[in-house]
Order: sequence, then structure tokens, then C-alpha cells
Amino acid sequence: MIPHKKDIRFTLSGYGEEIAIETFEGEFRNLMTLINEKMYVPDFGECKGIGRCGTCLLETKGLGGLSAEMERNEKATLDKFAVKMPGLRLSCQLMINADLNNTSIKIVEEREDVR
Ligand code: FES
Repeated sequence: MIPHKKDIRFTLSGYGEEIAIETFEGEFRNLMTLINEKMYVPDFGECKGIGRCGTCLLETKGLGGLSAEMERNEKATLDKFAVKMPGLRLSCQLMINADLNNTSIKIVEEREDVR
């Protein structure tokens, strides 16, 4: 079997850490799964990726890469928790693909709205 080339590279930061990520499309189910694997974030991704708990927030403001359309579930969850800051997305709703290349992903640490 030919190993996958890790051709998707980006920076992940939060909780005082900054990690250079190298991955490939399909290595992880979604961005939340990757983050759970690479970094310890307390109470992150509590609903395991169904888009309902709102604990897997990322700051994507100013990143050209994360252009994926927001699905109804994601929008409803952000509305439910009154997440008003533009550019916040649920990492469980974002796939690992070339859109992430050369971006910097920041985990939202202040998530009082979703407690
Ligand atoms: S893991 Fe629950 S909304 Fe993303």
C-alpha cells in the first residue's frame, strides 16, 4: 500500500500551544476529530460531531481557506448559543481538505456561551 502524502499543512493554536499540522484528506473524519487527536482541549466536542453542543468552536476570521458553506445544523447551533462573533465555526462541520492549507486555526477558549 502506498502511504498517503501529507500535503495539507496548517497551524493549530490554543491553550498556549501552537502546533504545525501535516495531514491528508480523509486522515480524520473532520477538523474536530483531528483537534481531539492532536491537542488536549477541555470539554471539546462533547456531542462527538453531530453539530449540537457548540463546544468545538474555532476562530476562522480572516482565513480565506475555510469557505465551506454552513449547513443548517451548524447555523442553528451557533444561533442557539447566541454566538455572534463573525468567523466562528464548528470544527466538527469542517472537513479536512486543501482549503486548510497555509491557514492558522485558533481554538476558541472562552466558550461561556455554550455552557
Ligand atoms: S462536537 Fe458538538 S457541535 Fe461540534
